[in-house]
Amino acid sequence: MGTVSFRHVYKAYKGEENPSVKNFHLEVGDGEFLVLVGPSGCGKSTTLRMLAGLEEITDGEIYIDDKFINYVSPKNRDIAMVFQNYALYPNLSIYENIALGLRLRKVDKHEIELKVNRVARALEIDHLLERRPNQLSGGQKQRVALGRAMVRDPKVFLMDEPLSNLDAKLRAQTRAELIRMHANLQTTTVYVTHDQVEAMTMGTRIVVMKSGEIQQVDSPQQLYDYPSNMFVASFIGTPQMNFVQGRLTREQNRFYFETKRWRLPLPSAFTSMLEASEFKKNDVVLGMRSEHIQLENECRVTEAEWVIEAKIEMKELMGSDTYLTADVSHDKLTLRAESHTDVQIGDQVRIHLRLDKAHLFSGETKQSILYSKGVNHL
Ligand SMILES: Nc1ncnc2c1ncn2[C@@H]1O[C@H](COP(=O)(O)OP(=O)(O)OP(=O)(O)O)[C@@H](O)[C@H]1O
Ligand SMILES: [Mg+2]
Repeated sequence: MGTVSFRHVYKAYKGEENPSVKNFHLEVGDGEFLVLVGPSGCGKSTTLRMLAGLEEITDGEIYIDDKFINYVSPKNRDIAMVFQNYALYPNLSIYENIALGLRLRKVDKHEIELKVNRVARALEIDHLLERRPNQLSGGQKQRVALGRAMVRDPKVFLMDEPLSNLDAKLRAQTRAELIRMHANLQTTTVYVTHDQVEAMTMGTRIVVMKSGEIQQVDSPQQLYDYPSNMFVASFIGTPQMNFVQGRLTREQNRFYFETKRWRLPLPSAFTSMLEASEFKKNDVVLGMRSEHIQLENECRVTEAEWVIEAKIEMKELMGSDTYLTADVSHDKLTLRAESHTDVQIGDQVRIHLRLDKAHLFSGETKQSILYSKGVNHL
């Protein structure tokens, strides 16, 4: 078992006016791979370090498997932490580095050998056991650090940006290894990153944080499809979601999204959702992912009423597809076109907005109007 429960946890560093972590309240299930993601300074490491026992908890409670651990020392928490900078002992061999934690616990010598070898094989570092850390590449060192955490067979793995020192190729490789390792061991893991791609590919659930506060906790797919506010919508996904300021207007049974210069009808399915929402103002922000905007001639099916004139302002070749930035009466929209599109900068085109996939955010609170859970729109 390895469940973690954060109950209304706060952290205020001495001399700081605002708490660095505010009301962090969350249950981590046994075997989960939970990712904390958010911009620099949002409180990810602080949260992880409170769980590790490396930082005092200002307010609230943390439990591991129903055991209250606020005042339990780090070494008695049954956790293993992997840091960004590996923290290997330079004078010890790789074998000794991995074995050290077990030795300190007075584990039987044969058992240590068995465990170290098994973990080393799993991480493909068994041929490196006699070397010293300075004879290893960054990726190999990273695997040693992981191995050291794994042999201890902890209840919970804690990882703080463990891949950020690796180059792009090694990062992708080690990422895949971590995913495989977790699939095999099923050890509860709390993983910190500011990289949304890492978060999306590794997490069974993702916690998006901003300024010390949880913005949303969801599976990667839910987070991408139903971001509960503009911050989450813009943080997750590349290229960033398009946002257009406008107003909601209504004619008979249909809602319209309207700017000063253009307007489009929203799907009739939105009517009841908008009526049911507590949203009372008109000012909204329309959010559209780039893959939901297409050149009309590349669409298989179009709704005639969702086609609009645009002028291409920018073209970025991405290999698998091409990003086009279109100007719709001064509002900019990035859309995805086929990789070999012959559309050129300056061309007048017709584009299709899949408004059935649209997001609407309150202009005032920035919360999603259609998909927010229990959020009050005033
Ligand atoms: N020891 C400290 N004393 C005072 N303030 C601190 C201390 N450590 C962190 N902070 C502040 O707490 C906030 C959260 O920091 P934290 O390191 O948790 O952020 P992070 O999300 O891990 O960021 P990054 O992605 O840059 O690692 C920041 O504003 C930071 O300046
Ligand atoms: Mg950090």
